Amino acid sequence: MDTARSIASGPARTAATPKPAAGRFVPAVSAEQARARAYSMPLEDFDVSKGKLFQADAHWPFFERLRREEPVHYCRQSYSGPYWSITKYHDIMKVEVDHQTFSSDSALGGIGLSDRPSDFRYPSFIAMDEPEHRPQRMAVAPMFTPTGLAQFEDTIRARVGIILDGLPRNETFNWVERVSIELTTQMLATLFDFPFEERRRLTYWSDIATANLNAGIIASEEERDTILQECFARFVELWNERVNAEPRSDLISMLAHSPATRNMDRNTYFGNIILLTVGGNDTTRNSISGGLFALNQFPDQYRKLRDDPALVDALVPEIIRWQTPLAYMRRTALRDVEFADKQIKKGDKVVMWYVSGNRDEEVFERPDDFIIGRAKGKNHLSFGFGIHRCVGLRLAELQLRVLWQEILKRFPVIEVVGEPKRVLSSFIRGYEVLPVRIPAA
Ligand code: HEM
Repeated sequence: MDTARSIASGPARTAATPKPAAGRFVPAVSAEQARARAYSMPLEDFDVSKGKLFQADAHWPFFERLRREEPVHYCRQSYSGPYWSITKYHDIMKVEVDHQTFSSDSALGGIGLSDRPSDFRYPSFIAMDEPEHRPQRMAVAPMFTPTGLAQFEDTIRARVGIILDGLPRNETFNWVERVSIELTTQMLATLFDFPFEERRRLTYWSDIATANLNAGIIASEEERDTILQECFARFVELWNERVNAEPRSDLISMLAHSPATRNMDRNTYFGNIILLTVGGNDTTRNSISGGLFALNQFPDQYRKLRDDPALVDALVPEIIRWQTPLAYMRRTALRDVEFADKQIKKGDKVVMWYVSGNRDEEVFERPDDFIIGRAKGKNHLSFGFGIHRCVGLRLAELQLRVLWQEILKRFPVIEVVGEPKRVLSSFIRGYEVLPVRIPAA
């Protein structure tokens, strides 16, 4: 940056798994309908990148069939052009670790399936290859080490307590709004040392940055960019405050003082701010919602947890596996390569479907079921793998652990009382609405 010290669901069930118990919710597209469609359509017509498929929670049998019949699959035509799907756990690992062949570089299209028009591209270190990526990651990594995070546990616990104690009893409310968004936004404001009373702007900007153009939130890339400029202007003010002050332990100060990032250009600063905002926001938010939904879908597991709250440690990775808050990451092939008997060409888009790898029957037994303490539960793919493995994963786990410890101290049960409304996206697996009720004490 130029600074002369100042700048500018319910899963589709296999025959082997038990039928849903009475009281579970039936999605808009039934599992049977989705399955019939997935198994009648020719494989060459498969396009699993459709947001609507995910919004209807109807994607499971499509991935199940791909894993069985064509685990590395080429989609010739989609909204975002042709792309390869990698659907099996071990194949995803192979792509993740081979960053010499499979690039994350934003100049080639980055980590999302749609290439954003170049005018609106903000580089961030998640969408960089080596040697650029590592120094920028290292600039913020100290925040997320066990020592860096130790400073936050008491704060998180206190805030969780306030949020939970303020929830209504015997009344239906939206868990996403009252708990998931509120908690993650408070956390994000703390990480940036962003003015606390303005924290909902972070949520808004995060939603804008990731909104699907068909979701009715924004109408065009131009509109997205206009709104994001407000975000950037606010973060420039904060940078200017921090760059001339003593280094502190918030993310903006870390970026402003680290040798790797203090001279980055404005667009890279903006890109990294969006990365840290989205990274810390949507993902954890949807794990918080997804965990409660899962426990209601699998009441035996909820009972097991209530009977032994020490299981919270094992609950956390299972929530993150089962929910898989980011369905995929994309790479671009830097050379022609033979992969699982397929010929991937230089420049091809390659999509690692974590959402499918996390349900790979060869790695996880009864993968569609939510099982606290399952074998290999911590080996899920939700945080990615290799050089880009989520830098904030310990923070996400900490938030979920503290939240569930505090929930179990207070509420014998939180009931999901209606079908959730899911986000229209094949990238973010999330919830807009999760109606719940806490019975009167
Ligand atoms: C359950 C919650 C979370 C999930 C599922 C998640 C998932 C991911 C995934 C899949 C990646 C990319 C991995 C790859 O390309 O191999 C990633 C990277 C990243 N995440 Fe997370 N994340 C979560 C929470 C967080 C939090 C709380 C933060 C912090 C604010 C964060 C910040 C980042 C950053 C900065 C990167 C880029 C790392 C790099 O490129 O080196 N994430 N995350």
